[in-house]
Amino acid sequence: MSVRFVIPYWPTWSFLPPEQPTKSMSETALSIHDYAMLDDAECETRIRAARAALGKRCVILGHHYQRDEVFRHADFTGDSLKLSRLASQSDAEYIVFCGVHFMAEVADILSRPDQVAILPDLAAGCSMADMANLVAVERCWRELATVLDPESEVTPVTYINSAADLKAFCGRHGGIVCTSSNAQKILEWSFARRGKVLFFPDQHLGRNTGYRMGIPLEEMVTWDFGKPLGGLTEDEIRRARMILWAGFCSVHQMFRPEHIDRFLAQYPDTRVIVHPECSFEVCQKAQYIGSTEYILNTVRAAEPNTRWLVGTELNLVNRLAREVQPQGKSVHFLSPTVCMCSTMFRTDPQHLLWVLENLVEGHVVNRIEVPAAIAAEARGALENMLQVA
Ligand code: 13P
Ligand code: SF4
Repeated sequence: MSVRFVIPYWPTWSFLPPEQPTKSMSETALSIHDYAMLDDAECETRIRAARAALGKRCVILGHHYQRDEVFRHADFTGDSLKLSRLASQSDAEYIVFCGVHFMAEVADILSRPDQVAILPDLAAGCSMADMANLVAVERCWRELATVLDPESEVTPVTYINSAADLKAFCGRHGGIVCTSSNAQKILEWSFARRGKVLFFPDQHLGRNTGYRMGIPLEEMVTWDFGKPLGGLTEDEIRRARMILWAGFCSVHQMFRPEHIDRFLAQYPDTRVIVHPECSFEVCQKAQYIGSTEYILNTVRAAEPNTRWLVGTELNLVNRLAREVQPQGKSVHFLSPTVCMCSTMFRTDPQHLLWVLENLVEGHVVNRIEVPAAIAAEARGALENMLQVA
């Protein structure tokens, strides 16, 4: 099978350019330009030395999609839910988040005011999160108000892959945040309050979860944020139980149902496990659907000598394949195209070393600081989630 190498890229993530000095960055901070050309081996040695110098003052959180050269330095690893819990429980002065922008924002919101959240490369955004913004979501809310009373009829639910001001929007309007591992519980909580849910930005997580809860596809409509009234009729809105924002993850759209069919034709005993950001058609062909942490735990707990086809990001899949290979388990990437998350990939050992050596020198670079008013409302929606899930 021929393999193409593709890093899906979404060009709209531009609100913070890379290496832009933050307001807490001192004049004398070490410059990233002195790090860009260092080789990985030198970075490895110096990262260990900087970690030792910082001791318990610094914790490194690593998402499962991080590349190996970064992932190995994480004190804790996990999916979005686990990492947000860890961020809220950490005592460290500095929380260095090897993940993407919204994750560092959550760490800042849930940590104490004296703690500092740091994102090693400010260009590490999430293309899906960028598909919803406050202006568009507020316009949607206003347009819904021409058809029904959203404040009493619609619970806004934002996937954690979203900007802090959207979490604040949910906090203001009686809504909540969800992650890929608790979406069903969060939807149950939401429907117990109001008859409809506005779910953003990922249509697939919303649709896949709603369908598993027994909501028919006809009662889930897609809100096209480029069109008046989301491209829907008033009647479609009135009849819908879930209004799904038309966002998606470009990485997970690389997995197609025909990839599963082709693999199963060759190896019929294969178990298929996918992330719920995959399309409905892909999820319908999978026996197991869940977050990155769920995928890892399920394959780890399986009997020896089983075969797995995994639909999520490549760094996770490659690491898992190596880990379970001694138990006779074989793990395969679901797509013939080798796709990675280009924004997760931005965090490299050079940027990690740069932020750590700056901390050793007493400089904070790349601090992520959510404005207090937004953080207060977003915290409400996040705390709702942490209590429910
Ligand atoms: P998890 O919460 O499952 O780790 O997912 C985060 C993510 O961005 C998946 O694309
Ligand atoms: Fe965002 Fe998709 Fe990357 Fe996850 S894999 S961080 S949803 S772009």
